[in-house]
Order: sequence, then C-alpha cells, then structure tokens
Amino acid sequence: MPETIWWKTGTVYQVYPRSFQDTNGDGVGDLPGITARLEHLAWLGVDAVWISPFYRSPMADFGYDVADYRAVDPLFGTLEDFDALIAEAHRRKLKVILDFVPNHSSIAHPWFVESRASRENPKRDWYLWRDPAPDGGPPNNWLSNFGGPAWTRDEASGQYYYHAFLAEQPDLNWRNPEVRAAMHDVLRFWLERGVDGFRVDVIWHLIKDEGFRDNPQNPDFAPHQPGINRFSQVYSCDRPEVIEVISGMRAVLREFGERVLIGEIYLPVERLVTYYGPDLEAADLPFNFQLLETPWQADAVAALVAEYEAALPEGGWPNWVLGNHDRPRIAARVGDAQARVAAMLLLTLRGTPTLYYGDEIGLGHVPIPPDRVQDPWERNEPGHGRDPVRTPMQWDDSRHAGFSAVEPWLPQTEDAERRNVDAMRDDSRSILTLYRRLLSLRRDHPALSVGGWRSVPLPPSLATEVFAYERFEGDETLRILLNFGSAERSIPLEDDAAKQETWSVLLSTRPGRAGEATGNVLHLSPDEGVVLRAHPSS
Ligand code: GLC
Repeated sequence: MPETIWWKTGTVYQVYPRSFQDTNGDGVGDLPGITARLEHLAWLGVDAVWISPFYRSPMADFGYDVADYRAVDPLFGTLEDFDALIAEAHRRKLKVILDFVPNHSSIAHPWFVESRASRENPKRDWYLWRDPAPDGGPPNNWLSNFGGPAWTRDEASGQYYYHAFLAEQPDLNWRNPEVRAAMHDVLRFWLERGVDGFRVDVIWHLIKDEGFRDNPQNPDFAPHQPGINRFSQVYSCDRPEVIEVISGMRAVLREFGERVLIGEIYLPVERLVTYYGPDLEAADLPFNFQLLETPWQADAVAALVAEYEAALPEGGWPNWVLGNHDRPRIAARVGDAQARVAAMLLLTLRGTPTLYYGDEIGLGHVPIPPDRVQDPWERNEPGHGRDPVRTPMQWDDSRHAGFSAVEPWLPQTEDAERRNVDAMRDDSRSILTLYRRLLSLRRDHPALSVGGWRSVPLPPSLATEVFAYERFEGDETLRILLNFGSAERSIPLEDDAAKQETWSVLLSTRPGRAGEATGNVLHLSPDEGVVLRAHPSS
C-alpha cells in the first residue's frame, strides 16, 4: 500500500525570510514578501514551505535567539501578516512549516531576565546555572559552537549559565517540566493558527548530561575545523533522554492531526536513525544531512545511500537535504554542471527532499566584503561564517534583482542579471527548468515519490564515476544513472537477461534527450544524469 501522507510524498522548500523578498524597502525580506512569492513555489511544484525564524528577536543570531515565541518581529511584519501568509499558502495547497527554536532563547526573553534576577527566582531552574569550578573558571570544558567557552559568568549571582551557541542564546533546561509545558503551549499557539509542522532547531542538543561531565578530547581534531571540534560532544548533546522529550513534542503535534516534526540533527547515520524513536514515536523526519558532508564522488555517495537505507528502522521514512542556511551551497561545492546532477539525485532518491531557496537557480557563494559581514560566527571564527549562503534571492534583471528597492542586507551574485528566476523560467536549458521538470516527474510517478529503492551494480571501472539505482512501484521501474565525472561513459543496460527490458529516457539533465529510446548501452555525457523508464520487451 503506497504511502500518501503529505510530508512523505511532498517536497519541502526552505525560505530564509531575510533573503526571500523585501516589500517595505529596508533591504531585508519580510512575511508579506514570502506571501507575494508563493506563486513561485506553486509554479515550481513544491508542497511545503519551511520558514526560518521570524519571531521577535534582538537578532544576535538572526532570529535563532528568540525573545518572544509568540510574536512576529516587526522587521518581518505582524501576526496578521503571518495569518495572511498561511491562508494564501493553504489556498495554493502549500503546507507551512515553522522553525521552532526550543534549545535556547534570547537573553532578552522575559524567562531569562527572570531566571537571571536571583538564585531564588522561580525561573532560575528554567536555564542551566552552575557554580564556578574550584579555580573560579567555567564549570566544565564544554565549548560554544560559535567559538570560545560555552559558559558565561553572571556577576550578580556569581554563577555561570550554559549556552551552546552565543552568550546571547542561553540554553533552556528541558529536564524541568515547567519548561516543557510552556514550550508545548508555544507549539499549540502556532498549530491553532494552522501551521502544518515544525523544523525543530538543534533537537539533539535539548538534553545535556545530568552530571555535566567534561567532553573527551577529539583525536581527529584538525586546526582548520571550528574550535568546538576539539572535543567530542559526548556529554553536551545526543543524550538518550532526549528521545522522550521529542516524543512529548510529537504528541502535541498529533493533537492536531497529521502535522510533521522535523528534527535538525548533525550526527552520523547510526546515531541519526535513533531519532525516529524506538517505536517511531519521536521525530517524523530526523533531517538527513549526510549529502552535505560526503565527498562528491559516485562511489562515496552510493555507499552513503546504501548505508542510510539499511540503517532506517522499519517504517521510518527517509529524507534528504542538499543545502541549508548553515552549510555551503551545492552549486559552490560541486560547480554548475554537477549541481544539475545533484538536483536529479535529491529528487529521485527515496524519501522527502528538502530544497534550499536559490538552489533552483544555481546560486553559488557570494564573496562578502569585510565591512559587510553579518554572521557573528564569522567574527568569532573567520572563515566559518554563513553569510555567503544567505544572500538574497534573485528574481529578475532589475537593480537588486527584484529582491528589494534598496541595497540588500547582503550582496547578490555578480551574474544576477542572468541568474534570476525571470531569465531562467522559459529557458529549456536552465537549471530552474530542470528542477521544475524533476518535481513534476516526482509528482507523476509513484515509483519516485513512494516507491522502493535498490542500487544497480556497475562494473568497478564505472562505479567510481557513475551512481546507478532503481525506483519501482507496481508495474513501473525507473533507473537513474548519474555521471559524477567529466568523461563520457557507456553504461550497459542488460544486466538481467531474464527480464529482457528495454529502456527509454524520461528525463536528462542534458536538454533534448527525453523520449530517446536506448539500446543495450546508454551513452552518458560528462556531468549527465538520466532517468530511464523500463518497458517490458514483447
Ligand atoms: C541551528 C540553526 C543555525 C543557528 C543555530 C543556533 O543550527 O540552523 O542557523 O545558528 O541552530 O540556533
């Protein structure tokens, strides 16, 4: 029985609200801007939009430091703007997923202001306060993900508070039932407004070791890595008790029917899959970021997909991510030609794909001049900043690419006059057209959206360059061949004499090949990917 739940069959599209569309002329995107551009998402053929945080915030970490979980920051608009956005999205059959940031609040959140007021304050235990070590230094060796210690001393009380990220982002104490209850009410607040699910920020961080033990040294630490990697994060995150916390959130979502809980989790595959929960009652989709971390080589990616497929618990639904607001853009990482292969990979693997805004026009990295750096991480640890992947969307060839009437908060690509939605929309060779065709193929073929997956073995000389697999459902079999290399390759197609199948091209990353019938050998151009359809030969 094929799966039909929307978050299994659909595709998610991430919008970074600062960078999608500015409507009030301040150079920063806003909620009315997202509403105005929903037509693009409907046209492209995605099913859900995940919006990074737009809550009231001092913006120390661009909204991932929340001062009021129930309010829209004036920079982005109002609650009425949000209601209009969700109504418009639902009218177009698009689901809306919010970014929920429960691990830490802003220091400006009233909960923290109270918690900090005194050791006796009823909200003291809502955050993680500890006495100094005997030498007066931080309570343990935990480091901040953005550089430096993860503990900041509060002069008034003499205690330290823990922050996995900036000192402006104190971690909440999820062992405290009052915190859980308050956060569950936040979820209900948005669910009642009609949201279809949440992407939960750093979900594997929510529970820390009860004894706050020191993290062990990481023997593999290399100096080019961020400082946090000096230690293995064994005690500061990924603690077993976190699964129960996630199940608690999921139970709140289920009060409202079929809503989705996506968890942000950077862990190796064998740890990642535990976040489905022992009885699949934790995260619906533990975000799978493996493609962001694996070298871009056919054999490495093939091994990764096989490993992930094998590791999934029974009934656990897979998912794949190629880019987000924290990691290098795919087009910058692999180049324009391979970005097309990557698009085909993402949209033909088994499981829910998540697209990052701008990847559909092949946005690369934009160099950020020192005087325009925004990301606090770049200031703390130069070279690790995320501004280059957060540059404003490019809609047309007007000044500022249709994003804003004024100079945007971050620069745009130098080729914005050509690299924009308007210019690529009707160009049959553009990456935008390829994305749209892939999305429509995914909709039209249950083999792609809900079907099974199996790898297709290739001779060793080919397997280093080409990744081959099949998707199948009912009578339909599709075979996907992706050339990660820059040489032409000839792929034998008859590996199963009993089946005697013939094949035709459904879609190629190279324009103009669709419909072509293949013989026993398929010639793949450099950097070409194809989706073939099997025809039983009579
Ligand atoms: C997540 C977000 C990232 C943010 C961090 C702290 O990793 O994706 O952008 O800086 O959490 O909230």
